[in-house]
Amino acid sequence: MAQSLESIPNNVDLSSDRRLQRALEQWQPNFLSWWKEVGPEGFQAHDIYLRTAISVEANGWAHFDYVKMPDYRWGIFLEPHDGERTIGFGDAMGEKVWTDVPGEHRNALRRIIVTQADTEPASVEQQRLLGKTCPSMYDLRNLFQVNVEEGRHLWAMVYLLHRFFGRDGREEADELLQRRSGSSDKPRILNAFNEPIDDWLSFFMFAMFTDRDGKYQLAALAQSGFDPLARTTRFMLTEEAHHLFVGETGVDRVVQRCAELMAAGKDPAREGAVPFALIQKYINLWFPLSLDLFGGEVSSNAADFFASGLKGRFREDTLEEHKAMGQTYRLEVPENGKLVAQEVPLRNAMNEVLRDEYVKDCQRAVDRWNKTLAKAGVTGMTLKLPNRRFHRGVGPNSGLFFDPDGKWLSAADYKSQEATFLPTAEDRVFVRSLMHPVTEPGKVASWIAQPNKGIDGKPLDFEYVKPPQA
Ligand SMILES: [Fe+2]
Ligand SMILES: [Fe+2]
Repeated sequence: MAQSLESIPNNVDLSSDRRLQRALEQWQPNFLSWWKEVGPEGFQAHDIYLRTAISVEANGWAHFDYVKMPDYRWGIFLEPHDGERTIGFGDAMGEKVWTDVPGEHRNALRRIIVTQADTEPASVEQQRLLGKTCPSMYDLRNLFQVNVEEGRHLWAMVYLLHRFFGRDGREEADELLQRRSGSSDKPRILNAFNEPIDDWLSFFMFAMFTDRDGKYQLAALAQSGFDPLARTTRFMLTEEAHHLFVGETGVDRVVQRCAELMAAGKDPAREGAVPFALIQKYINLWFPLSLDLFGGEVSSNAADFFASGLKGRFREDTLEEHKAMGQTYRLEVPENGKLVAQEVPLRNAMNEVLRDEYVKDCQRAVDRWNKTLAKAGVTGMTLKLPNRRFHRGVGPNSGLFFDPDGKWLSAADYKSQEATFLPTAEDRVFVRSLMHPVTEPGKVASWIAQPNKGIDGKPLDFEYVKPPQA
């Protein structure tokens, strides 16, 4: 059933803006065809126990009920005004925030919004086949929750494009539905969003590491002087927390299952679980891919975005100093075959400053996984984040070879050890071979531990996904 625009929950007074309505009315059927074509395959007619944001009030943003995904009410929400906001950093600090796009920042803002927007449909495309191999009903429901909310994030960004960027905004909105993850002629903009996610270990790693980049990008944009962008991304962050939970606890449950088998003297691989070394290799793959999303270590774009008040630091509003002038940031960069220290102006290191916060957060999650290992009785083995230089595709270390400890290797040395660093083709085949669907409520696959508790206070054996009635 096609939705009418009236059914779109929103707090942007959609019904009073005829021009915007017309633009969205034209875009909406294309969005729905895109969803049906490359959204979750095989589950469009199922009833899924989903959370829908129906208002921004505390009791409205997490309304739970059964819904078929194509009927999901993709809403448009901005965090409500909090009085008079002023720009909180950069050269225009203290001036009133912009409620419209300033001409001089139009191109930069459009680029920022399109780049963020492109990741939302991309991840839905990447994950479209996963439903067929779900480890449990609980996980299946969480996958679809993430998928529909990424769909809503696309709506949120498309609203900004349609509302504030006129004709080129509409063109950009159309192109967001035309690019395809992994396509050779029209790929998604960022690399990690063209990687295949065809097994659930990759999905959990993606939700843990790659979606977490999204949290930091959104948090930096939540400080933006362009008020509609700041308020849109603030609301998106409330949903993003669940995605990160799905990733972090998903990996944790894989670790737990592996640890329990090892502690019992069994070989996880023979018991249909993921061996410890493979979990480490998947971390080694997804962490650097996600680090790359923050951009180059030294970036004049990042400096410009900060100077002009478009993109702040993580929790900029809690920092003491907001100009970042006359300060430097110390980096280690490769030069003539050696790593040398370099001091760069702080503003030019803003990507790296944001990446620092991200890395701390990832380390916190790895510490938690290591606690799970220890609690199960596994000693002398811990999971690690690879060094930031390892396997990078962006920045001064890209094209060079480092091991996961950050040691510089020759291309030949790297090649000879690569199979111990990163998942091989056989590793991927093995992981895929574990992925048998488990759809009996309350049961989980052999390679993952039970979750701690259900969704929305429901029991673990709740029927989170119901097949269509015959
Ligand atoms: Fe998102
Ligand atoms: Fe997300």
